[in-house]
Amino acid sequence: LIDEKNKFYEINKETARFFFSNLTKNESGLNYLYNRKINNKTIKQFGLGYSLNKWDDLYKYLKFRGYKEADAQKLGLIGKKSSNDGYYDKFRNRIMFPIIDTKGRVIGFGGRVLDNSMPKYLNSQETPVFNKGEHLYGLNLVNKFSDKKRIILVEGYMDVIALFSKGINCGVASLGTALTERQAKLLKRYGENVYICYDSDQAGINATDRAIEVLLKEEIEPKIINLGDYKDPDDFLKENSVDQFEKTINESFNHIDYRIHINKKKYNIDEAEGKIKFTIEIAKIIKRLKSPIEKDVYIEKISKEMNISKEAIEKEVFGNTIKHI
Ligand code: GTP
Ligand code: MN
Ligand code: MN
Ligand code: MN
Ligand code: MN
Repeated sequence: LIDEKNKFYEINKETARFFFSNLTKNESGLNYLYNRKINNKTIKQFGLGYSLNKWDDLYKYLKFRGYKEADAQKLGLIGKKSSNDGYYDKFRNRIMFPIIDTKGRVIGFGGRVLDNSMPKYLNSQETPVFNKGEHLYGLNLVNKFSDKKRIILVEGYMDVIALFSKGINCGVASLGTALTERQAKLLKRYGENVYICYDSDQAGINATDRAIEVLLKEEIEPKIINLGDYKDPDDFLKENSVDQFEKTINESFNHIDYRIHINKKKYNIDEAEGKIKFTIEIAKIIKRLKSPIEKDVYIEKISKEMNISKEAIEKEVFGNTIKHI
């Protein structure tokens, strides 16, 4: 069984090398990366590559190297034609991102189109060596280069790459899925402080909410980075310096302040109705805080900010029963 896994790792590594070598065979992949300000050093660091716009380029190569069709198929690299008379490459005409574990093994791939066609990204299916929810993209490099004082959770491959290319060696991505318990444990292990820096769109806001929940369950109190009007960390770093990014880290919210911030945008607190809804929403969040002191601090804060009596908010938080202090 270990031998079988090693064979899969070997095929994946050969494939990553093949995709990398394609960058010099066809200029469109390399041009795409250069246009996104990714230089040769970063390309090598991440082992980026390109899958040619052909139907059976990788298939032929793996066959030539003596690997079995069935194995390449199990790895999600090739598929059987519906006519059943041969195989085709799953990744075609895409920038290729090998996903590498902390032991340096290539466990899977992500592939991005060069234009606006859909799907934008294609990821390896679950395979005998790839279980999405157990890994974080970039963790191999974090393990190697980070001082592990902090770790920044981002959405995408390109965000991790942007961080490292600017010397911020502590970014990981959750591989396009909702954060799992296993991934939360990895974050805890590789960073004393955990920061969430997901995209600023609604999908990112929803994912942040869910990630906060998962992290709190693992007793991690994440900080949340606010990118303002920028879409994602890659977008931010295109136009801002590392110092400016460090500033967003220093100004990051704890999870309660973050939710206060988000809910303030959601409700119109200048009107009675919005003010009531906002305060009830925040009371629910305060209710779940473990520390009575923390509860008291936030009740006080919201009371002052909303000009609502502490007693009323306390009743909302604790109910009409005895206050548990
Ligand atoms: P760029 O446009 O290259 O900057 O990508 P992005 O990373 O900003 O894209 P986005 O914010 O849309 O997606 C974040 C991450 O989600 C990606 O890096 C992928 O891992 C994943 N993802 C995005 N689109 C798709 C998709 O169409 N299919 C799958 N399976 N995953 C996706
Ligand atoms: Mn998307
Ligand atoms: Mn996104
Ligand atoms: Mn994005
Ligand atoms: Mn992006």
